[in-house]
Amino acid sequence: MAKINDNYLKLKAGYLFPEIGRRVRAFAEANPAAKVIRLGIGDVTRPLAPAVLKAFHAAVDDLGTVENFAGYGPEQGYDWLINAIIEKSYQPLGVSLKTEEMFISDGSKCDCANILDIFAMDNIVAIGDPVYPVYNDTNVMIGRTGDADAKGYYKGVVYMPCNEANGFIPALPTEKVDIIYLCFPNNPTGVVASKAELKKWVDYANANDAVIFFDAAYEAFITDPSIPHSIYEIEGAKRCAIEFRSFSKTAGFTGVRCGLVVVPEEVMGTTASGEKYSFNKLWLRRTTTKFNGASYPVQKAAAAVYSDEGWKQTKEIIDYYMENARIIREGLKEVGVTCFGGVNAPYIWLKTPAGLTSWDFFDKLLTECNVVGTPGSGFGPSGEGYFRLSAFGNRDNVIEAVERIKKNLK
Ligand code: MLT
Repeated sequence: MAKINDNYLKLKAGYLFPEIGRRVRAFAEANPAAKVIRLGIGDVTRPLAPAVLKAFHAAVDDLGTVENFAGYGPEQGYDWLINAIIEKSYQPLGVSLKTEEMFISDGSKCDCANILDIFAMDNIVAIGDPVYPVYNDTNVMIGRTGDADAKGYYKGVVYMPCNEANGFIPALPTEKVDIIYLCFPNNPTGVVASKAELKKWVDYANANDAVIFFDAAYEAFITDPSIPHSIYEIEGAKRCAIEFRSFSKTAGFTGVRCGLVVVPEEVMGTTASGEKYSFNKLWLRRTTTKFNGASYPVQKAAAAVYSDEGWKQTKEIIDYYMENARIIREGLKEVGVTCFGGVNAPYIWLKTPAGLTSWDFFDKLLTECNVVGTPGSGFGPSGEGYFRLSAFGNRDNVIEAVERIKKNLK
């Protein structure tokens, strides 16, 4: 009989969001009259920007003509999309990138998981707690960890607790690590890191020959001009950081699927025999072997985000969500709930009232307010006693959800 990958059996729970979905479905089935408002998973609700939709349609039409038909594209993405992103999204930050340093994909979740392919198994990985569960679970799945302890920490991983005392920004590891996951604006806490903060990490990585995986999926939601959008705004980062970005939240592509990875040519690792080797070359090799590129219409739609019209419309949608974030944050504060994030990020991280556990508060909100959020403990043990609300709902739903919660907690 074929053997399974036993590493999967080390995983302590099902993936967080399907588990929430299961509980919500069970509740909705048992209470068909309840109008459930979903502010759990960070899934967008606004339609695509008109300029993006138009480009998407036009690209689909291209596929119906002999002249413009597109078959396999470059596995790493079309130059016209990569160059538009570099020009519109990186150059204004003072960051110059080569076309060969950017790789277009079908989404950031897969990229964050797939990148592990090009790193040796004996690298020591540092992961925040709470954290986007993909970073942790994919390291377990690939076999880099031992079993979980009672707390839920997997053996072999260096966890970096993030709590109120450290402003939800992890401290530098006290031991030498090889790979560091950073996510700013942070999912789930919504906090951001200043340039000075990121400089500490870049200096640590360069001094320790470590690589930073910088997840910038929420950079478009930054409102404070002093906050960096890219790790490459930090001097020295091109020698040590791989950056992930996503069109999911930025441009409403959660169902469309498009993301990107930047792997600067200068980011080096060592071979088993100690020679330096470029991760860019490995990632290109991996991409061209295991992927056939994001689809042509999707990349055309993504490129339209960077047209003048598309950019303006996309920003308007982002502003819409950030107004939702303000409504949630301020509404909850009115009834004495302690909130974090929601200013430069579409997530509000709140302290559960009356010392409830995260899952107890989840059940309370679901059953008493018919509002779905995400239990903080689902993002790691340090998330216990916290709860995440997403600002990606429709305005009416967000207002109603906040009113219901306020009434319940008064
Ligand atoms: C979240 O809610 O944390 C995200 O939507 C999950 C994801 O982007 O995969």
